[in-house]
Amino acid sequence: MEMTFAMIKPNGVRSGLVGRILERYESAQLSVCAVKMHQMTSADARGFYAEHVEKPFFPELEEYMTKGPSIMIALGGENAIMKVRAINGATNPAKAEAGTIRYDFAPSMTENVVHSSDSAESAAREIAFWFKKEDVYAYDAVSQKACCVLGR
Ligand code: CMP
Repeated sequence: MEMTFAMIKPNGVRSGLVGRILERYESAQLSVCAVKMHQMTSADARGFYAEHVEKPFFPELEEYMTKGPSIMIALGGENAIMKVRAINGATNPAKAEAGTIRYDFAPSMTENVVHSSDSAESAAREIAFWFKKEDVYAYDAVSQKACCVLGR
């Protein structure tokens, strides 16, 4: 059992893709352990994307991420980090494999519809960035058992 953080970015929410994206994660035997809708402030964007603040693409990223609400999700399951990265596809949609979320729905590198953690360290940081520990319900859809990785 592993946990990861995923986000449906503002254009995914605005385009009505929330249900279809969650369906892809849940169909891969991943459980929703926490979820919330939130419109990022500039301070949120600078904190969440701290490693990118000095990069040339950051102003465009900040504008995109603050222009509407996103869906923040903690997902749990076997190999959750790599599974969600595979389902999302490459950061650059032009390089994403057919059948991935970014291949199917993302219009550009910046507006790439979804985010997911790239390592266990990032997952722990990103889940803690958006959720209080007691609001993460670690639950394994396969065994139907609470597994208490984070939270209760
Ligand atoms: P994400 O996986 O959320 O991580 C950083 C985000 O910055 C990325 O998705 C894109 O939305 C955006 N971005 C824009 N340009 C680049 C780039 N050249 N490299 C990486 N990320 C980029």
